[in-house]
Amino acid sequence: MEEEKKTIGIRGLLAAAVLLCLSSLAVSTEEVKQKQLRFGEKGGFKIVQVADMHYGDGKTTPCRDLLPSQMAGCSDLNTTAFIRRMILAEKPDLIVFTGDNICSDATDAARSLEYAFSPAISAGIPWAAVLGNHDQQSTLSREGLMNHTVTLDHTVSQVNPTDVDAIDGFGNYNVEVHGVEGSGFENKSVLNLYFLDSGDYSTVPAISGYGWIKPSQQLWFQRTSMKLQRAYMSEPEAQEAPAPGLVYFHIPVPEYASVESSNYTGVNQDGISSPSVNSGFFTTMVEAGDVKAVFTGHDHLNDFCGEYTGIQLCYGGGFGYHAYGKAGWPRRSRVVLATLEKTDDGSWGPLMSIKTWKRLDDENLTTIDVEILWSNSTAEVGSPVGAPTASEGPSGMTPGSLLSPAVSPAPMTGNTGDCASRSTLLLVAGLGATILRAFF
Ligand SMILES: *[C@@H]1O[C@H](CO)[C@@H](O)[C@H](O)[C@H]1NC(C)=O
Ligand SMILES: *[C@@H]1O[C@H](CO)[C@@H](O)[C@H](O)[C@H]1NC(C)=O
Ligand SMILES: *[C@@H]1O[C@H](CO)[C@@H](O)[C@H](O)[C@H]1NC(C)=O
Ligand SMILES: *[C@@H]1O[C@H](CO)[C@@H](O)[C@H](O)[C@H]1NC(C)=O
Ligand SMILES: *[C@@H]1O[C@H](CO)[C@@H](O)[C@H](O)[C@H]1NC(C)=O
Ligand SMILES: *[C@@H]1O[C@H](CO)[C@@H](O)[C@H](O)[C@H]1NC(C)=O
Repeated sequence: MEEEKKTIGIRGLLAAAVLLCLSSLAVSTEEVKQKQLRFGEKGGFKIVQVADMHYGDGKTTPCRDLLPSQMAGCSDLNTTAFIRRMILAEKPDLIVFTGDNICSDATDAARSLEYAFSPAISAGIPWAAVLGNHDQQSTLSREGLMNHTVTLDHTVSQVNPTDVDAIDGFGNYNVEVHGVEGSGFENKSVLNLYFLDSGDYSTVPAISGYGWIKPSQQLWFQRTSMKLQRAYMSEPEAQEAPAPGLVYFHIPVPEYASVESSNYTGVNQDGISSPSVNSGFFTTMVEAGDVKAVFTGHDHLNDFCGEYTGIQLCYGGGFGYHAYGKAGWPRRSRVVLATLEKTDDGSWGPLMSIKTWKRLDDENLTTIDVEILWSNSTAEVGSPVGAPTASEGPSGMTPGSLLSPAVSPAPMTGNTGDCASRSTLLLVAGLGATILRAFF
């Protein structure tokens, strides 16, 4: 009897230990999974970019810069409806929110974030977010915002990489996109996504204007890129060239202004509001050798892509209705489609091309500016191409039905004022710097 009890006790302990091991294994697999996405069976991976939502309090937060006839009944909920339309039309594999997701008008930053991201969350689509220069202007700090963001469902966002001691900013991380399950590339990242915090405003008294990507972030990027390239170029399926990388952050690097206007697909009608100093991140990306395209927001009226020194520099184009815009120039969203190469044996190989286009939030969700950003057969790059094919483009949805969303965020109440304009904020930032200088 006594002996029996003891045995059960030990067995129980063993079982508990095994369970513990299994559950910790499950946790670590879950963590790995979070950082990894995968190409679908059709060999494509599609990303929808949502730039500058400037979400406030929802229903009570009005729209800006529309034709007089469009102002009535327009609120943050129109931004939400636009995300839903994009989800229905494009069926993305990932949604990337490139900062200024919320703005100073949010009475409760955590709730506003939840509302702003809610279409991705309720659709169960993986999503990633970075910070802009306005996000921290309501009730949460930049760290607090990222801390909260990473707790939301279906996000692949991370506060910061866990394998570095110290890094500037919040929301620096990378996501691997692996090849098709069952193919030779199922365990290899064939497309690498990098997300960085481009800061808000300079805190260095001698430098005015916006923040920039710091050396600590560039070092992390450089090491991560190197590590990924080494893995991609070793067995199994060792490749000769690195897997293409795409980089997402908010404030354009100064090189955006170096793209020749003859190289634009899309428009530059807003000025390019980069930091007043060049911290060298563009050079770091060129040097790394894997980056094919960069996607930012910040200048809502710019929506071009243009190649400079081998990297496509792209804007998302203003998405949010509470953000500044231009009356008569529809809010818009950028789509990126990466396609794998079909192998001789009918399976899927490495990346073949990266295409992009934009959708306008008009009656027909019009597709514009379709182009190839990168292709393995370099001859195709930069040449304009036809409309996306049926499998990748408009999928026969009826725009009318799209504005009656299944789940509406509850209307929020509170401050309905506009977010401060960029110039006011720069002034405030400048003033802040002056005050700081007076203090220290
Ligand atoms: C905003 O949404 C409302 C309600 O669906 C709609 O009637 C209105 O046309 C939308 N406004 C704009 C500018 O899209
Ligand atoms: C964010 O989370 C980290 C880790 O849990 C914690 O140390 C830090 O205090 C949090 N900061 C804020 C502002 O929430
Ligand atoms: C990928 O990894 C899994 C699990 O380790 C393994 O079973 C599978 O054979 C690997 N696939 C390839 C193509 O190497
Ligand atoms: C381009 O295609 C060739 C042949 O399939 C392949 O070996 C190479 O790795 C590809 N390059 C990239 C960058 O994927
Ligand atoms: C314009 O694009 C072409 C390729 O499309 C490239 O060769 C050229 O360098 C670009 N011009 C500039 C100024 O970057
Ligand atoms: C939408 O498509 C319809 C039918 O093709 C057309 O009559 C209408 O002008 C289009 N609307 C816009 C805003 O392009």
